[in-house]
Amino acid sequence: MTSGPPGIVLAAGLGTRMRSQTPKVLHHVAGKPLLSHVLDAVRGAGARPVVVLSKESEPARAVVGDDAIVAIQEPPRGTGDAVRVALTKIPGSSGEAFIVYGDTPLLRAETLRALSELRAKRAAPLALLSGMVGTANAYGRIIRDTDGDVARIVEARLATADERRLPESNLGAYAVDIAWLRTAVARLRANETGEVFLTDLVALATADGTRVAAHCTDDPDEGMGVNTRVELAAAEDVVRRRIRERHMLAGVTFHDPSSSLVDADVTIAPDAIIERGSVLEGHTRIGSGTRIGPYAIVRDTTIGERCRVEASVLEGATLEDDVRIGPYSHLRPGAYLEQGVEMGNFGEVKNARLGKGTKMHHFSYIGDAVVGQRVNIGAGTITLNYDGVRKHRTEIGDDAFIGSDSLLRAPIKVGARSVTGAGSVVTKDVPDDMLAVGVPARIRKKTEKKDRAS
Ligand code: UD1
Ligand code: CA
Repeated sequence: MTSGPPGIVLAAGLGTRMRSQTPKVLHHVAGKPLLSHVLDAVRGAGARPVVVLSKESEPARAVVGDDAIVAIQEPPRGTGDAVRVALTKIPGSSGEAFIVYGDTPLLRAETLRALSELRAKRAAPLALLSGMVGTANAYGRIIRDTDGDVARIVEARLATADERRLPESNLGAYAVDIAWLRTAVARLRANETGEVFLTDLVALATADGTRVAAHCTDDPDEGMGVNTRVELAAAEDVVRRRIRERHMLAGVTFHDPSSSLVDADVTIAPDAIIERGSVLEGHTRIGSGTRIGPYAIVRDTTIGERCRVEASVLEGATLEDDVRIGPYSHLRPGAYLEQGVEMGNFGEVKNARLGKGTKMHHFSYIGDAVVGQRVNIGAGTITLNYDGVRKHRTEIGDDAFIGSDSLLRAPIKVGARSVTGAGSVVTKDVPDDMLAVGVPARIRKKTEKKDRAS
């Protein structure tokens, strides 16, 4: 549980500019919702999230986490009103709070801490984040007073042409004294748009002779707000670049970095190499010395050390160390490949374990199976796991040799060191050290020793 100061996150807006059935804050950037990025920043600054949602954005409740307090603003009447609603949920709190918008996924925890420090240094009840972001945008413009503090924020749509030409904008992150905020928010009124603007707090403060400090970031990307899908894509680009740079600085090599996409929660050990066109999604983990790509899609998969995954798709799989995959193979959920497994082209493994050193080099399907160690799975082998109604299991013992084009009709067991002949259709269990040949396969004693070199 996070304790610490409240971090108020405004996420009740309708997000109409997204033109979507999905609430804006649930649109994804780098594999997770906008709102989750903002919550990471809030928690990273040591604050406890107080998330303002509305009827429309209520589905976002599913991602806020157990430590968050949720307030419902119904109907959304503007950012100032949203903060008023948030404060009703934390009646006893005092000291400092942060306020952030749920649509600014690039905001950093360090920046919130910097706002807090600035507020203390300037002895101001309110400190806000600004940036030099040019004039081709809809941000609120910062109007400074002669001391360099902030006199007013004017929303771009309400600004005069001169005000719109001001290059410094409100990026939408605040550190504020809670006691001051309570009385100030109560004094906010709806303006000509019918909304209550949080940004009007600034004019209120300066009218009282209360100072508002501004921290102008040198990384204006940080405040990028997402209102349209064009802005969503732009934010995604920046987040993706930051993620790759974080991994590179931690010792991961990227070839042609911008061609690969790595989700926010992927972990990659130092000395891994990510070749071009690799997409690493979800909670994927990659071990040291492993090479991914060129052209691989790896989703929620754990990969050990010194593995090689080329031009393949891996989903929900686990690879121990020294595993080689590809090109053109597909691991589906529940695939578990022990150390040293080799899987060549056009192989598919689902819900199955392949034992240490097992080789499966050419176009085979292994599903719902446990395969022992050092097994050779010949080209074109198929586990017939599905009878049209139910899935059945296949077991293959250590050192078995499955001949090319074997069909194994599950449920079935092939014993240790047993051999199936090329083209056999195995319908009955094969005990250890036996040979199964023909259609349907007859089971015989093994006569000569098979040469396993392949
Ligand atoms: C807001 C700021 C603007 C700033 C910009 C930075 C105000 C009035 N304006 O404008 O100065 O430059 O962000 O990105 O604050 N929300 C609610 N309840 C509401 C309305 C909005 O919770 O009633 C939430 C939205 O879900 C959103 C956030 O507040 O996450 C900001 O609202 P939005 O409408 O996107 O404000 P902007 O027009 O971008
Ligand atoms: Ca916005």
